[in-house]
Amino acid sequence: MRYSAAGMALVAFGLLSTAPAAQAQEELPDGVTDEMIANGKTVFGGAGICMVCHGPEGAGIANLGADLSDDEWLHSDGTYEGILATIEAGVAADKSSTGGVMPPKGGSSISDEQVKAVAAYVWSLSS
Ligand code: HEC
Repeated sequence: MRYSAAGMALVAFGLLSTAPAAQAQEELPDGVTDEMIANGKTVFGGAGICMVCHGPEGAGIANLGADLSDDEWLHSDGTYEGILATIEAGVAADKSSTGGVMPPKGGSSISDEQVKAVAAYVWSLSS
């Protein structure tokens, strides 16, 4: 339920500026850019329909989607790659802690590029 300062700073940075900030850049996983994180936020609340089950800020909705803003990961190791794999595959009912199902890509028809962006955004929420 908590937002780390670094995660919020990365999101804010991605939205506000394209100028390099050495500190923030160093903390990003391979293949992730600030621009992706900013785009991913838009996908999360828009075409990706993630907010329907995970809430507008990714904090989770009881019996629907897990809290994505904490650093507890139920279905991966919480790395960018792990989060990406969960979003691509979804979560089956027998793997879910609530019994709720997440279809692949949340049931949306977002592109591979949008999947990567939204994974970067979800990663940033807890980092
Ligand atoms: C139909 C509801 C639904 C939608 C839409 C949905 N999810 Fe989920 N999501 C779930 C459920 C249910 C779980 C498993 C929760 C549990 O095990 O407690 C889950 C789990 C996850 C996890 C794993 C969390 C962990 O702790 O490992 C990630 C990451 C995730 N969702 C991201 C997304 C993203 C990104 C989108 C949009 C592309 C999305 N979800 C759309 C229902 C949904």
